[in-house]
Amino acid sequence: MEEIIKTLEKYNQNQIIEILHKVDETTKEKLINQLNKINFKEINDLYKNIHTANKVDIDKIKPIKSTNEDKLSKEELEKYKRLGEETVRNNKFAVVTMSGGQGTRLGFNGPKGTFKINVEPNPKYLFEIIVDTLTEANKKYAVTIPWYIMTSEENDTTIKEFMQSHNNFGYDGQYIKYFKQGKLPLIDEKGNLLIDENYNIRLASNGNGSIFESMRTKGILDDMESKGIEWVYIGSIDNVLLKMVDILLLGIAIEEKSPIATRSMFKNNPRERVGSICSYNGKIKVIEYSEFPEEIVDAVDENGELLYGESHIMCNLFNIEALKIVSTKKLPYHMAFKKYSYIDSNLNLVVPEEPNAYKFEYFIFDSFEYFNKISILRGKREEDFAPVKNATGVDSPETAIKLYNNYWRKMGKI
Ligand code: UTP
Repeated sequence: MEEIIKTLEKYNQNQIIEILHKVDETTKEKLINQLNKINFKEINDLYKNIHTANKVDIDKIKPIKSTNEDKLSKEELEKYKRLGEETVRNNKFAVVTMSGGQGTRLGFNGPKGTFKINVEPNPKYLFEIIVDTLTEANKKYAVTIPWYIMTSEENDTTIKEFMQSHNNFGYDGQYIKYFKQGKLPLIDEKGNLLIDENYNIRLASNGNGSIFESMRTKGILDDMESKGIEWVYIGSIDNVLLKMVDILLLGIAIEEKSPIATRSMFKNNPRERVGSICSYNGKIKVIEYSEFPEEIVDAVDENGELLYGESHIMCNLFNIEALKIVSTKKLPYHMAFKKYSYIDSNLNLVVPEEPNAYKFEYFIFDSFEYFNKISILRGKREEDFAPVKNATGVDSPETAIKLYNNYWRKMGKI
């Protein structure tokens, strides 16, 4: 106790000190155990920087080259697809689904993958849609693709039980591996850690960019290497048109000798709420719509096409060496200010009506800057991108269902 109090004093955690003095012995012991695992220096450094805004310098932004699928010749298409297909058929390809998110905007009480959407001909869970896509590719290429699922502390058990109760939607369990992403304490405006109603330190997932470190520390990279995996597709759980076994993207990355690749989508208006892929200070970067400088957001090239229209839609391909490199790097944290209830120093539960705490997150695309080359393949919205983000309106179940049905109708499957 004395030792932890000293650390807490050093880092101005007076609220917790008071709480520790008031709770019973069992709770005290539990809290001390948890406090011992906290990296106070890291939290303090984050706190010190919360007011340092990420200023984007216009002069450092340049457009980045991409390949437009529509402009590829028949020969090019065949060559790339052959290369990609060979890799898949030779069992050198794996898929990771990121499902550690909280899905706050959707407001569904459960992990997003367990959300059911009313597509034709039968409603499907988001996890089921992923499995269907993988299963179709497995049949086509006569393989079973190893599938890794990133969960979070909050949803790991629910996801595993859900998958088990649905018999993995027919996917061979031997080829599925789960791993948990990282987490970090939340802090309030004064830098205090928060204690939740069960007297635990309030932790939250630290963003999808924690995937790299987690893959290394949880033995996923080793597992992939032992299976001879050379290329890894990392995608989100909530895009119902996501085609993870993207042999075209894979073939282009191999041909262009790029360590990383992404299928992008062209913005339908300069201010669409997506991140723009560009070059920044000579490095590959995705700039969030909220941070993109207004002065150049409408800029067009000589053909009248948006200069910064290429957007990141969570379709990420990495070769295994690239994953190993980035798994040891420290990505920058991004910050969100959100509402979280907490126990105050008088042991009262406070449920705030306004945001009161900072959540820190790593973003997967911040890893791009560690590489000097990326293959970007511009896909098509109606074929590649139907995300379930919001409960209603844009990028909601309603829009995703429409896009899904239209696509599969066009494919003659419904
Ligand atoms: P989003 O950034 O859209 O987050 O995630 P979200 O959790 O789904 O939704 P909101 O923002 O809370 O409404 C994009 C992808 O990254 C995963 C999500 O599960 C989704 O597949 N993700 C996000 C993680 O795996 N971990 C995280 O910490 C955050």
